[in-house]
Amino acid sequence: MYYLGLDIGGMSIKCGVVNEKGQLGYVCRAVTPIGDFPTAIRVIDELCRETARKAGIPWQDVQGIGAGAPGTVCGDIVTYATNLGWYNVPFVEELSRATGKRVAVGNDANCALLAEWRFGSAKGYDNVAMITLGTGVGTAFICDGRLLLGNGAACGEGGHMRIKNLGRKCNCGREDCWEIYASASSLQERAAALVEREPMGLLARLSGGQKVDGLTFFRALAEGDESCRQVLLEFQEDVVDGLVNIANLFRPKLIVMGGGICAQPTLLAPLEFMVNARTLGGKNNPHVEVTAATFDNDAGIIGGACLVIE
Ligand code: BGC
Repeated sequence: MYYLGLDIGGMSIKCGVVNEKGQLGYVCRAVTPIGDFPTAIRVIDELCRETARKAGIPWQDVQGIGAGAPGTVCGDIVTYATNLGWYNVPFVEELSRATGKRVAVGNDANCALLAEWRFGSAKGYDNVAMITLGTGVGTAFICDGRLLLGNGAACGEGGHMRIKNLGRKCNCGREDCWEIYASASSLQERAAALVEREPMGLLARLSGGQKVDGLTFFRALAEGDESCRQVLLEFQEDVVDGLVNIANLFRPKLIVMGGGICAQPTLLAPLEFMVNARTLGGKNNPHVEVTAATFDNDAGIIGGACLVIE
């Protein structure tokens, strides 16, 4: 059985073929058209058909299409996805009309958690938090064996907890949200600032005048660069501030960290110790495990498909 999973991001939309065991096959991408929902539906429809064609799957064999969107989603409607400029858009109705398929949609972090819970690192756990560090910070929760949706399915927006008082604007209109400080974009900004500060430093030399990317940052770090280590430590502190809030609120047994940068052991390895040292009650309360997502950056695609896999 073949399904299509979509991960709709602020920069690109990824579409992948997923089978009923959660195994991911061919993946295609398109640039996200921001703000213009009808165009986005046209692009997504074409992307889905292209993915099936390139994977050699006849269109009639696609059993359903599931999508993760970066915002709040209530039933069939994407209610608020500010990074896409989508407000109360009838996603399911429009995409199923275009594709002729059964379509479902959910919040992207919820989708990533469904993928990890069903097929990955969170299998068998009843209390899990999923955190995705990407353009924004996504959070999703399974408490006592159930995915939390909240009133209007609008809960689980941990990326918008205020964690500082520095007056930095978030896309949501508020200030100092966790995602400004803990997203992959934030790490990239910090690395770019380091290149500015130290134009003769290792990171500047390795990035050779190009915009610094995550891989170059972790390479400089692996080569022992002290300034990169300092940047990483500050970033980890900000990540941990939010994780501790989450641990105190939900006391998950497991926190799964998703998004490409979390596959980097230098970033991830210290987090479990830091979180447990700082959560309320210390050793008197149950230990919180922190692990990298099994599906890394693909959890969103597989999780999208999970919405339609029977
Ligand atoms: C949105 C969330 C989303 C996260 C990751 C946040 O800005 O509010 O709904 O899960 O970004 O894309």
